[in-house]
Amino acid sequence: MKIAMIGTGYVGLVTGACLAKIGHRVTCVDQDSSKVRALRRGNIPIYEPGLETVVEQAVAKKKLTFTTDLAKAVKANDIVFIAVGTPQASDGRSDLRDVEAAAKQIAKAANKSKIVVVKSTVPAGTCKRVGRILGKHGGEHTFDVVSNPEFLREGDAVNDFLDPDRIVIGTATERAANAMRKLYAPFEPQDVPLVLTSLETSELIKYSANAFLATKVAFINEMANLCDATGADIEALSRGIGLDNRIGRAFLKPGPGYGGSCFPKDTLALTVQAQEADCPVRIVESVVDSNSFHIRRLGRRITDFCAASWGETSNVPLVGKRIAILGLAFKANTDDVRSAASTVIAPLLSKQGAEIVGYDPAADKAITELIPTLERAKSIEEAIKGADAAIVLTEWAEIGAIDWPTMHDLMRQPVVVDLRNLYNTVKMAQNGFYYLSLGRPHIAPV
Ligand SMILES: NC(=O)c1ccc[n+]([C@@H]2O[C@H](COP(=O)([O-])OP(=O)(O)OC[C@H]3O[C@@H](n4cnc5c(N)ncnc54)[C@H](O)[C@@H]3O)[C@@H](O)[C@H]2O)c1
Repeated sequence: MKIAMIGTGYVGLVTGACLAKIGHRVTCVDQDSSKVRALRRGNIPIYEPGLETVVEQAVAKKKLTFTTDLAKAVKANDIVFIAVGTPQASDGRSDLRDVEAAAKQIAKAANKSKIVVVKSTVPAGTCKRVGRILGKHGGEHTFDVVSNPEFLREGDAVNDFLDPDRIVIGTATERAANAMRKLYAPFEPQDVPLVLTSLETSELIKYSANAFLATKVAFINEMANLCDATGADIEALSRGIGLDNRIGRAFLKPGPGYGGSCFPKDTLALTVQAQEADCPVRIVESVVDSNSFHIRRLGRRITDFCAASWGETSNVPLVGKRIAILGLAFKANTDDVRSAASTVIAPLLSKQGAEIVGYDPAADKAITELIPTLERAKSIEEAIKGADAAIVLTEWAEIGAIDWPTMHDLMRQPVVVDLRNLYNTVKMAQNGFYYLSLGRPHIAPV
């Protein structure tokens, strides 16, 4: 089938490239001409394992092209995806301006009837609004609107797209349902369940899924704090509950709280929509509160732990101290720093007078755009050299494999705060570190 993909960001590029891989002919459109130029040269603008190969092969087979010309792409294709950003607006709602603008542009460019598939995450009711915009600006042409939310995880996006747990399709017309069945027919041999439903249900499935996963994250972080307070061990606790099939092991690892470009904005947007509908989602509201409380509390714990480890009694213990932040992306295997823990912790410590140096294997460019003043190191060693403390925020394999005995001598003071529980507590003590992790015993050098 022939597809135009409006928006070539994390979702649009992965979706477009993977649809091309399974046999469709895809034109990826983006208004950012530098992105399109880079893609045409074969440069992938984001860090996403495996994506480069998929793009390269699809381009070589002439299944995938890139353009800034939305009108031409719309005219040439019967199915048009909208995969533009829906960031958080200042009032917590989802900012739908790009979706609405794309819908208007599609309508104006249409030369015949089209199927318009909303891939962006949008609140329930948005696809109907998109339908009204298309109707208003589309002249005599008719448009079938489909909601087809995306569940890929950055860092594992290609695998997630090609091996999905389910495909969710919301639509009100049989014609669109049939077109979407045909589009995803290559997944039939894999027995991928297809959830065919209404527009609103499909839209809400996406928010419910993210809110549920965010709830697991917030829950395990609260349990980790309780482990700290009671002397229990979060690793055993997590295993002990996660082995119950009704609960499952995924998303039960303590950390600095959920971040990234989806959970924070989607949980908040869901609470706002629910409040406006006069049926507040109290659990999700608590999750949002719990997550922001967690990261702020961790900020305080980092300061207290470092001060105690240094034997620093001043009421401004971080002044003049050099702190290395290891991992700036919101999770491993991505360069995405949107709502990453680093974007909270680095300014927080810096405000208390610490000199911060950050290291990330992939997010250097992204963090520079967000926090231009942050000093960055080119390697773990460079970040750690002369540091009074190292704070681990992202679970990159490279960071998990740090040889701490070697690092010990590079640091000014042997203090490690690990918000991903990557290292063995006993070994860290044996290696001479003051070591704080989450929901596990605090360790002083032995
Ligand atoms: N990133 C994820 O992991 C993820 C996962 C699932 C769902 N989503 C959802 O998918 C949507 C897209 O997210 P993203 O992370 O890919 O965003 P992104 O910011 O990486 O990409 C959006 C792209 O759309 C382009 N764009 C905006 N308006 C346009 C227009 N009118 N014409 C052409 N191009 C236009 C922008 O230039 C940008 O390149 C959001 O709704 C998001 O919530 C994201």
